[in-house]
Amino acid sequence: MKQYITQDPWNIVEEGFHRDHNEITESLMSLGNGRIGQRGNFEEKFTGKTLQGNYVAGVYYPDKTRVGWWKNGYPDYFAKVLNAANWIGIDIDVEYESLDLNTCDVHDFRRVLNMQAGYLERSFVATLKSGKQLKVNSKRFCSIVDDEAGVIRYSITPLNFDAKITITPYIDGTIRNRDANYDETFWDEVRKETAYGEAYIELRTRKTGFHVASGMCVEIEQDAAKVDYQSQPIKYEKYVANRITLDCWQGQETVIYKYAVNLSSLNYDSDSLVKEARQYIQRITRKGFDKMLFEQKQAWADKWKMNDITIDGDVAAQQGIRFNIFQLNQTYTGEDERLNIGPKGFTGEKYGGSTYWDTEAYCLPFYLSTADQKVARNLLVYRYKHLQKAIENAQKLGFRAGAALYPMVTMNGEECHNEWEITFEEIHRNGAIAYAIYDYVRYTGDELYLVDYGLEVLIAISRFWSQRVNWSKDKNQYVMLGVTGPNEYENNVNNNWYTNYIAAWTLRYTIEAVGKVKALNPDKYADLIDRIHFREEKEISTAQHIVDNMHYPFDDGRQVFLQQSDFLDKDLMPVSDIPKGQRPLNQNWSWDRILRSCFIKQADVLQGLYFFEDEFDTDTLRRNFDFYEPMTVHESSLSPCVHSIQASKLGMVEKAYEMYLRTARLDLDDYNNDTEDGCHITSMAGTWLAVVKGFGGMRVDAKGLSFRPYCPAGWQSLAFKIRFRGVLLQITTTQQDVTVQNFSQQPITLRVHGEPLIIAGNSQETVVVKELA
Ligand code: BGC
Repeated sequence: MKQYITQDPWNIVEEGFHRDHNEITESLMSLGNGRIGQRGNFEEKFTGKTLQGNYVAGVYYPDKTRVGWWKNGYPDYFAKVLNAANWIGIDIDVEYESLDLNTCDVHDFRRVLNMQAGYLERSFVATLKSGKQLKVNSKRFCSIVDDEAGVIRYSITPLNFDAKITITPYIDGTIRNRDANYDETFWDEVRKETAYGEAYIELRTRKTGFHVASGMCVEIEQDAAKVDYQSQPIKYEKYVANRITLDCWQGQETVIYKYAVNLSSLNYDSDSLVKEARQYIQRITRKGFDKMLFEQKQAWADKWKMNDITIDGDVAAQQGIRFNIFQLNQTYTGEDERLNIGPKGFTGEKYGGSTYWDTEAYCLPFYLSTADQKVARNLLVYRYKHLQKAIENAQKLGFRAGAALYPMVTMNGEECHNEWEITFEEIHRNGAIAYAIYDYVRYTGDELYLVDYGLEVLIAISRFWSQRVNWSKDKNQYVMLGVTGPNEYENNVNNNWYTNYIAAWTLRYTIEAVGKVKALNPDKYADLIDRIHFREEKEISTAQHIVDNMHYPFDDGRQVFLQQSDFLDKDLMPVSDIPKGQRPLNQNWSWDRILRSCFIKQADVLQGLYFFEDEFDTDTLRRNFDFYEPMTVHESSLSPCVHSIQASKLGMVEKAYEMYLRTARLDLDDYNNDTEDGCHITSMAGTWLAVVKGFGGMRVDAKGLSFRPYCPAGWQSLAFKIRFRGVLLQITTTQQDVTVQNFSQQPITLRVHGEPLIIAGNSQETVVVKELA
């Protein structure tokens, strides 16, 4: 754990240059707009510890799989989120010395990510070896208004000298992925051009053939007036630049504006990419930095109006939640149904691929409640469009008759993860995709989604479950052998309770959805079953038989569900018995030792009790929580949030708060010692869940929307906003009472602490906070 980031409600602040933590800070200070993004790297040259990272959404590389022993069914590739051309670079040379914070003395360093307005700012004074002192101030952002553009204002002021300073703004496509399996480069150059103050480069990915054109235009001001500078174009392989030498006087500020764009062939015809890039650059240059920044601030203000969470009385918690909301908004905007939410977003390379079960299990509820309905719908449609690939994926493993197994990790619908215990066995992800359909329909009431898309996906997933279980003569029940549950610290187990449960639940829900769709639109239903050869009677009766006869391992003594059939053979002990210095286990123990231990990486049985809480009483939750939580090491970032929500439900408020802080500040405090790889973007949605479903107690069920809010000790108030079926609400909780404010015209009926409330349009109601469970 590291705590060098200054606590502040709206900013992520690094005071003083923490050279050794630079890659962590770069992850934290990442910028993005859903289409392009980058790590918080320096503009000028830096020879110290850094992971240069620029990313263009949807552009990936199918890196050849690396395994020791090939197994049939493995995917051929592991998709890498591609590190793309570095468009922020501006080299500064003072006579013969380069500005490089690794080799000069650095004073008054401050790097700030302004989350309210969506930009990154940095200032420092550098003393070069010669004693020359240079003051630098930079500000940049990825525009959410012009979402293929980024812009930088970079100013330099000599403090104790007059000199010729050479400024070299560039675009560098020689970049490599640090996580490349065979150390290959993934880009080829297509063309490049330079003109006065402008430069363009078009690169093409190997194998996938994506084209990306990056362009830049540079303007310079001195004494607040535009400078008509001389520039020398520079072209190397995959590199373009303009070298500009200026007379700079002591105390005089020189400001460099660098306008940049990154256009990809996902959105443009590849033949005209550079032409489009030039037009885009001209348009934003005409608009100018100040106007772009103004628009950026407005656009962020609009976003915050819809989804800010305020916590009075706890700056650490406040900063944590805003950081999470900010990064989620930077990663995914829902504008483009081909895109998804990678576990690292635009903040790093690790985890290749862009879509995991994280999207459905964790992120969907965030977008459902904080964005337009079409955003969450697009996340579902994304999977609908991959259905054919999921069917092919299941076929490769021997399943048939339209059974679908969605990939564990994907870019385009194909599986691209190749650890057998995950690819072949962590099949519970299929259930999360079915659950997301249910979650969306329950929240929005949009049952027509089932007619147009949902049922087809549910039937295909149900076909998979029906074939994946087998009848045990010994148990006289259905069993599911050789799986990995959400807890990846156990592999190849039999009857993972969570997987068995979600499989049977999917079958149940599919049967229900068949009935619904038939009633809603018999014609479309008839077309669908004809197209996918759904033998209604037979398939439904098989599904019902499985539902009625599924095996769920259970311990009669403790009255808890068993994570898997043999769980009780393990040497059970609490995490507190692990000797000091041996955590995280995945960095200290052999894999073999981890697999045999009772320690749990992330919510597993508890994940099921979280999804299906309406089907279990509070005592069941408490018994299972008390049994499993003490054995849980939370070494997946997806873990603490589920525990926090459940602890809130059980009235274990201190535990809920402890788990909340761990999720909210996971990256800011580098809890798992891995933030340098990038931020845990998908688990950030879990942080939001811990506030809204945990402290806020928000639920949507057949009776509608309800809340059971409370304020953790030490907080004066907690306020969050949600959108629900056309209504925007703010729920504000103090230690004493809860106020629900309705910002819409339309009235809404809901329950707060079990009491029904009708809140008229544009009004509010206050009730008293009640004791939890
Ligand atoms: C977790 C998975 C998760 C993946 C990506 C792993 O550590 O165990 O559940 O899908 O990270 O976030």
